[in-house]
Amino acid sequence: MRSVIDILDLSVEELDQLIKTATDIIDNPAKYAHVCAGKKLATLFFEPSTRTRMSFEAAMYELGGNVISMASAASSSASKGESVADTAKVISCYADIIAMRHPKEGAAYVLAHNATVPTINAGDGGHCHPTQTLADLLTIHREKGRFNNLTVGFCGDLKFGRTVHSLINALSRYEGINIALISPDELKLPSYVKKDVLQKKDIPYVQTTNLEEVMPALDILYMTRVQRERFFNEEDYLRLKDSYILTPEKLKNAKEDLAILHPLPRVNEISVAIDDDPRACYFKQVLNGKYMRMALILKLLKEAGTI
Ligand code: NCD
Repeated sequence: MRSVIDILDLSVEELDQLIKTATDIIDNPAKYAHVCAGKKLATLFFEPSTRTRMSFEAAMYELGGNVISMASAASSSASKGESVADTAKVISCYADIIAMRHPKEGAAYVLAHNATVPTINAGDGGHCHPTQTLADLLTIHREKGRFNNLTVGFCGDLKFGRTVHSLINALSRYEGINIALISPDELKLPSYVKKDVLQKKDIPYVQTTNLEEVMPALDILYMTRVQRERFFNEEDYLRLKDSYILTPEKLKNAKEDLAILHPLPRVNEISVAIDDDPRACYFKQVLNGKYMRMALILKLLKEAGTI
């Protein structure tokens, strides 16, 4: 059964097609309002979420489908010790498609290998988060009109930020990509991403702790939150949490057509004074995420022969 665990599970052609479908949904919502009538999406979130969970749910409702969900991880049978593999088999009896978020890297693989319906990884620990990448890609497409020849800066927690790992993987398949990695030393991009993606694909990149230094070159600035829940001690988190705070002052040398993205939630990384700057794209990105999730649900249900 087809599942999306990693963004690389989707080919570049499939991404183009998803962007086309999402754009058509934006332009003609009525055409899609009943396509999933009678079908059910199960959302299983074993970690906190606002956007991802609600955008999956809103996506399914806007396709005319229904949603079943568990109130919280604590109230599910996982708290009694049920394995992800068993949960996958059980939920497959109730739902036509499953989206799951889990704190453990690799949980999405276990789900996909045990479910009998299509599954979508809604974030597995510090590993990856492919549907956030779909939101990011539609945002880049709408703002820049291209994926080639872009200089993209990733700033903040590049170590634990799964959205960063997934977007770097996605961008690695386009031509003329330059990457700037801006983080404190302790939160650098994991070496497996550097080796397996950037170095393997010969993507030029710089690593720095200084955001202002690279700012003038950037077409996209991808800000991220320091991932408190993945730290081993609170002291390190407190020391690093405010390493980067984007303010109007810091944008002085930025390009006029820079696009500022952030997967959200924002804690302190972007001053609210930037929200009205035309370069701020993070709330548009939220909406784009819903449309891309609609396109993905449609694609997977069609491929499964469910609709
Ligand atoms: C991100 C995540 O869960 O990884 N949030 C999201 O899904 N939009 C980013 C984060 O939590 O910092």
